[in-house]
Amino acid sequence: MTLISPHTQRLTHLIMVILLLFPFLFLLLTATPHHVSTTTTNHQQDTMDPSELQTLYNIMETLSSDHKWRLSFPNPCKPSTSWTGIQCKLGLTDSHLHVTRLDFGTPPNPTCKPTSTFPSNIFQLPYLQSIFFFNCFTKTKTTLSVPKDHTLSSSSLQQLSLRSNPSLVGSISPQLFSRLPSLQILTLSQSRISGVIPPEISELKSLVHLDLSYNQLTGFIPVQLGKLGSLVGLDLSYNSLTGSVPNTIGQLGMLQKLDLSSNLLTGSVPMSIEKLSSLAFIALNNNRFHGKLPVGLANLKGLEYLIMDNNPMSIELPVELGQLQKLQELRLANSGFSGEIPATFSHLSNLTTLSLQNNRLTGSIPVGLGNLSRIYHLNLSKNLLSGEIPFDSGFLKRLGKNLDVSGNRDLCLNPLEAYDCVKLGVDVCDRSNNTRVGKINSRVKPLKTSEGQVVEISQPTLFFVFLGFHLYLY
Ligand SMILES: *[C@@H]1O[C@H](CO)[C@@H](O)[C@H](O)[C@H]1NC(C)=O
Ligand SMILES: *[C@@H]1O[C@H](CO)[C@@H](O)[C@H](O)[C@H]1NC(C)=O
Ligand SMILES: *[C@@H]1O[C@H](CO)[C@@H](O)[C@H](O)[C@H]1NC(C)=O
Ligand SMILES: *[C@@H]1O[C@H](CO)[C@@H](O)[C@H](O)[C@H]1NC(C)=O
Repeated sequence: MTLISPHTQRLTHLIMVILLLFPFLFLLLTATPHHVSTTTTNHQQDTMDPSELQTLYNIMETLSSDHKWRLSFPNPCKPSTSWTGIQCKLGLTDSHLHVTRLDFGTPPNPTCKPTSTFPSNIFQLPYLQSIFFFNCFTKTKTTLSVPKDHTLSSSSLQQLSLRSNPSLVGSISPQLFSRLPSLQILTLSQSRISGVIPPEISELKSLVHLDLSYNQLTGFIPVQLGKLGSLVGLDLSYNSLTGSVPNTIGQLGMLQKLDLSSNLLTGSVPMSIEKLSSLAFIALNNNRFHGKLPVGLANLKGLEYLIMDNNPMSIELPVELGQLQKLQELRLANSGFSGEIPATFSHLSNLTTLSLQNNRLTGSIPVGLGNLSRIYHLNLSKNLLSGEIPFDSGFLKRLGKNLDVSGNRDLCLNPLEAYDCVKLGVDVCDRSNNTRVGKINSRVKPLKTSEGQVVEISQPTLFFVFLGFHLYLY
């Protein structure tokens, strides 16, 4: 018996394979250029399906006059010859290149011409996953129309983002929801979309982020919204929504950001809100909410922003809010809050902004507020607060003009803390009988008359806070 080592065996196999393949290798090496070109064409590695390409050009011509698209980009999906703002990928089954993302609005992406209108055939690009239109429809009125025919195949769309399109009008068609089952991000903000939010919104089962802010939406918030169990961000702010917030909102267990500010919402804040245990940001300001705040609100341990100014609440300031340890901003101004400022508010060690101005708060300022080491904006003006301001000169200097205690008739300042540099708009206390001195000390003047300006956290600043939070979420 001859023994062949495994090594020798492998070598023999290799030689046999080379001998068998030799005729093919020979053919390949001697192939003419004609053969080679046939090979690449069969691969179709960088070509598009002709009808998809045609649809793409039609879309580009509807929207943009930046180029003669067909001439300038004969092969728009091929990486080396594509424009910024288009993304493509190779099909798994047909090995064509397919458009997956289109971005319009600001250079270097294609810009939109003044006459551009919404290209509803965009939904016919079968592989499209993301659509971005920023500042695109600005002159010619257009609507967000979805083709009615059944050839619509854009079921792979995950992100539809239309921001800042002032000539985008009309209502949201229910078809938009029923035909786009994979949608995860829907942004239609800063346009002039009107009408109601269709209940069919519940069909967007994969939706993670919904932003319909800064439009002209009317009607109720649909109860069906509660079916969007994956929702992390919900922004319906700056519309004209009416009615109360449906209790089903408590079913959105993943929700981190809830912005319903600047609408015409009524009723009380629903009890179910206490179930939103992931919530970090809630803005309900500029509405017509009234009545009790849910006691369970205090269980939202992750809450960092609670913004509720400008609502006719007319209740006492809830003591439980002092349990929201992570709070950074607490804004409850102009809301008819009465009672004392709860001493528990001094446990909010991460608080940077506390706005309680223009309410009917009584009693003295809790001593502990002076212990809030991160606070830089504290507005207690226009209340009925009394007694001595408990802040030391270090605190007064640190906050400077961002501390406002003016407009509280019975509030006064400890003479020892009454520095020239600190003008608070209150009088100095008369320590002898613990009432105000009156106008004896002329150095202490109301801030607004002597300084001419009062630093206030303006809407833009707030906007950047929102934006920052948004970026933090995504
Ligand atoms: C306060 O904020 C800091 C930094 O953002 C964070 O690390 C800390 O956990 C927060 N404290 C509380 C009580 O949430
Ligand atoms: C404020 O902080 C100081 C020092 O940390 C502490 O002794 C005092 O009790 C605190 N005051 C209140 C009212 O929490
Ligand atoms: C308290 O001070 C005010 C203002 O100086 C004075 O009019 C009043 O008589 C004083 N009251 C007492 C009890 O000393
Ligand atoms: C405090 O609130 C009042 C009333 O809204 C406002 O006029 C003032 O500018 C605010 N002050 C600061 C420092 O923000």
